[in-house]
This record gives sequence, structure tokens and C-alpha cells, in this order.
Amino acid sequence: MELARGEKTYIKKLGKEHIDLMQNWGRHGNPLFSCYNFPHMSERQKDCWYRNKTRGFSKKCFVVFNDCNQLVGYISLRNIRIFKKTGELGIVFDPNNIDRGYGTDGLKAFLRYYFEILKMRALYLKVSIFNKRAQRCYKKAGFRLSDIVTEEFEDQSLPIFQDDYFIPYRHFFKLENERIKCQFIDMVITRDRYYLEVKDER
Ligand SMILES: CC(C)(COP(=O)(O)OP(=O)(O)OC[C@H]1O[C@@H](n2cnc3c(N)ncnc32)[C@H](O)[C@@H]1OP(=O)(O)O)[C@@H](O)C(=O)NCCC(=O)NCCS
Repeated sequence: MELARGEKTYIKKLGKEHIDLMQNWGRHGNPLFSCYNFPHMSERQKDCWYRNKTRGFSKKCFVVFNDCNQLVGYISLRNIRIFKKTGELGIVFDPNNIDRGYGTDGLKAFLRYYFEILKMRALYLKVSIFNKRAQRCYKKAGFRLSDIVTEEFEDQSLPIFQDDYFIPYRHFFKLENERIKCQFIDMVITRDRYYLEVKDER
């Protein structure tokens, strides 16, 4: 069932049948984004992954299709607080389909579902400081900066301080107790902001 529709995308709840479609996605050329490559999984791993994503009340997962009915993106809600009506956003699009406006359009459609149907109060996210594309997408969808924090980087195996490839990015990172740390931007969109400033932009 379609949950929300944008100008070039529509959103559905994640189904098990979507996993194979995501396994056919492209791969990121920049190793800083390798952790967003959709993993190749055995049938058993797919079952586990799907069960893990759909079990419990604190998370919900969605998929985004484009106007050619191609599955182009995956959106997850984590740490859903039912009484506070808040959640945290995760978003990953097919590397073959990024920079085509699908992310912003899909996210705007998702916000409509989140605030108007689910009646939530605020949506939070965290984005690494070097990820300018994601930051631009979030700003266009209506998110605003709430804080800048330093935390462990997701991919500790990357040779950030050894390989010259990472020189242009190195200043975003530091090494602390042999762990790679990175600056992240915390962003938020509240229901009030959505209704006052974002909803009518459409
Ligand atoms: C982040 C993501 C979901 C955005 O979706 P998308 O479809 O690529 O986004 P859009 O095309 O709607 O918008 C991207 C915007 O960033 C801009 N952009 C791209 N690269 C950029 C860069 N290096 N610096 C600044 N802006 C950049 C684009 O020009 C576009 O802005 P515009 O429409 O004003 O021209 C997608 O790129 C993705 O999955 N990336 C990998 C995973 C990831 O980073 N997830 C987020 C983790 S917090």
C-alpha cells in the first residue's frame, strides 16, 4: 500500500520482497560512503535482516519508489518514542540514483506521512560533517541544525590517517584512544515547523 506520494516518488512500508531489489543497487565509489552500500546477503541473512528491521515498536522501515516504479531508496525510523512522539531518521538511496532529486522528494513525502498521518511531534537525525549532499537534502526538506557533536565514525576500518586519498577529508576526523572520531551535525524538524514553514512550500 502506498503511504505517501511526492512529485517524483512514492513511499511504501518495507516488505521482504524489496530486499532483492535493494541487493541490485549500485556501489559508492567514495570509500567514505562504503558503509551505505547495501550488503549482499544469503537467504538466511535476508530473513534475519528483515526480522530485525520489522520487529518491535521502536522502529519502522520504508522504501521509496520513483515515477518509473524503480525502488530507489530506503528510509528507517529508529528509537521511536510512542509517548513523546519522536523518532530518528535513517536514509539511504541507491548510489545509481542519487543526485536526481529523489532523496529530497522522498523525504518531503515521508514527512507528510510522519506528521500528518502518524501525528508525530519531532524527527531527529545525525549526519557526518563531510556529507554535504545529505546535509543539502535535509535542509531542503526542512531540517535545521540543532547541535554539532564528536562521535565514533561508523567505519573504523578506513585508513583515514594513512591513505592519501583521505587528505581532503582528514580535517573532519581525529584519532582518540585509537578510535576514529568524526564531527556530526544533529538536525531536527518539529511538527510546528513542518506545519508553519514546510507543508505550504509544496
Ligand atoms: C543523502 C541521500 C539520501 C540524498 O538523496 P539524493 O537523491 O542524492 O538527494 P537530492 O538529489 O534530492 O539532493 C541532493 C542535493 O545535494 C547537492 N549536492 C550533491 N553533492 C554535493 C556536495 N558535495 N556538496 C554540496 N551539495 C551537494 C545536490 O546538488 C542536490 O542539491 P540541489 O538539488 O539544490 O542541486 C543520498 O545521496 C544517499 O543515499 N547518500 C548515501 C547515503 C547517505 O549519505 N545517507 C545519509 C546518512 S546521514
